[in-house]
Amino acid sequence: MSRPPLKKQLAFPLLTTAVVGLTLYLLHAFDSTFKAFFSSLPGMIAPDYDHVLKLVQAALYISLTFVLVRAANELIFGFVVPKRKGYEAPGLARDIFSLIAYVLVFALILKWFFPNITFGTLFTTSAVVGVILGLALQDTLGNLFSGISLQADKPFQVGDVISVGKWTGVVESITWRAVKIRTFQNHIILVSNSNISKESIEVCPRNNLNARVVTFHARYIDSPARVINIVREAVREGDNISQKIKPIVRIKSLDESGVEYELKYYLDNYARFNDTDALIRQRIWYAFQRAGLGFPFPTRTLHIARDGKTPSLHADEHNRFERLAGVSIFAPLSQEELISLAADSETHVFAPGESIIRAGDAGASMFVLHRGSVRVQVSTNGKPRTLATLKEGDFFGEMALLTGEPRTANVIAAEETEVLEIGYEAMRRLFETNPDLVEALSRTIAERRVALTSEPEKAAKSDERSVSIVAAIKRFFHLD
Ligand code: CMP
Repeated sequence: MSRPPLKKQLAFPLLTTAVVGLTLYLLHAFDSTFKAFFSSLPGMIAPDYDHVLKLVQAALYISLTFVLVRAANELIFGFVVPKRKGYEAPGLARDIFSLIAYVLVFALILKWFFPNITFGTLFTTSAVVGVILGLALQDTLGNLFSGISLQADKPFQVGDVISVGKWTGVVESITWRAVKIRTFQNHIILVSNSNISKESIEVCPRNNLNARVVTFHARYIDSPARVINIVREAVREGDNISQKIKPIVRIKSLDESGVEYELKYYLDNYARFNDTDALIRQRIWYAFQRAGLGFPFPTRTLHIARDGKTPSLHADEHNRFERLAGVSIFAPLSQEELISLAADSETHVFAPGESIIRAGDAGASMFVLHRGSVRVQVSTNGKPRTLATLKEGDFFGEMALLTGEPRTANVIAAEETEVLEIGYEAMRRLFETNPDLVEALSRTIAERRVALTSEPEKAAKSDERSVSIVAAIKRFFHLD
């Protein structure tokens, strides 16, 4: 809310003072002329003129007081206080100042011109006046005292966004009677102070980092890690999106027809949350379009399961074949062997941070990393130690599968990760036609075991170990 400049505000009081001063001077200068003229009027005598003159003078002084108090109010609260304190004085302080100043100056003027009036007795002796005033001022006083307590507590200030009852908007002023709120439809709502003090108020302070939550849905086939990454990236910056705390995207619920996400973001200016919410939704739509993600419709999807398995959502068999063909240890396999291995393997998707393998568990399968990356970790003195980070085309889980021993390490998805799981039977078929595969795998196992033990002298024995591993694998797969 902008006020007119001080100069403009002071022009009217100065003009009024000049006019009143001039009138008083003229009354004084032409006193005898006016008196003579007045006395010549039919039925009027000189003492009447004195009464009328007093009344006119009192009226002039009162009107002067009125404009001067307003000017002083403007000067103190609109100019001096903001300059010193850095913020505009509350409306209530202005009102109380004006009220006290008016009452005092009016009383002084009346006392000056009519010394016989006694204000004390007027109020104290008249019970009727008391009752009338009491009843008439009941609400007004309630508002006034609530207003004073609002000023003392300062639960909100001009510029804050508040919600009272069904109204939400920006506080424009707090006066002795009511709080003025401008809603987001640009309507003005006046909520009386006494109502405000009775209701619960939600306050979003102007200088606070206020957050909003926008929800949206994505389809079940779109993986959460991907949706979250894409949306987070899309709303990283934008008009009124605060850079102090980054937006957070997380799953809110798994609904009937889609996954519901919530996006929590912080605003530089909370009063503009409607526009910023809309911007966020728009960004989500465009990001979804670019990434080929879809919004779910309220439909029923019928999944027909074969052999009790739901169809795989990612990586069809051809993709799997291509991935397996790129794995170094499977290089000696023929195309047919790779095709049947692809058909025998199963695809699984893991969220970032999920454990794919846990140390100590029994394991009857190995995994080829199809997409993403994993961390191989062991626990040393209770703290996780990363032995290796494996990428697309690497494999893991072969140790337990091939030797029958428990899993040697934890394998954790470092990001959203898709793996191809290969079981005991599939491996056994491969070993029958590719005896060299056993040796290649044994060498990898031997190297990895060295890293697991982390004792340098054992490194020298890795070849020797590799031989014993070959024997162990052959035994376990009944290959001799
Ligand atoms: P397994 O023991 O079945 O389960 C944990 C897996 O982590 C293990 O098989 C290996 O595939 C893998 N692994 C263990 N040690 C290492 C290492 N030093 N480097 C890479 N991978 C490893």
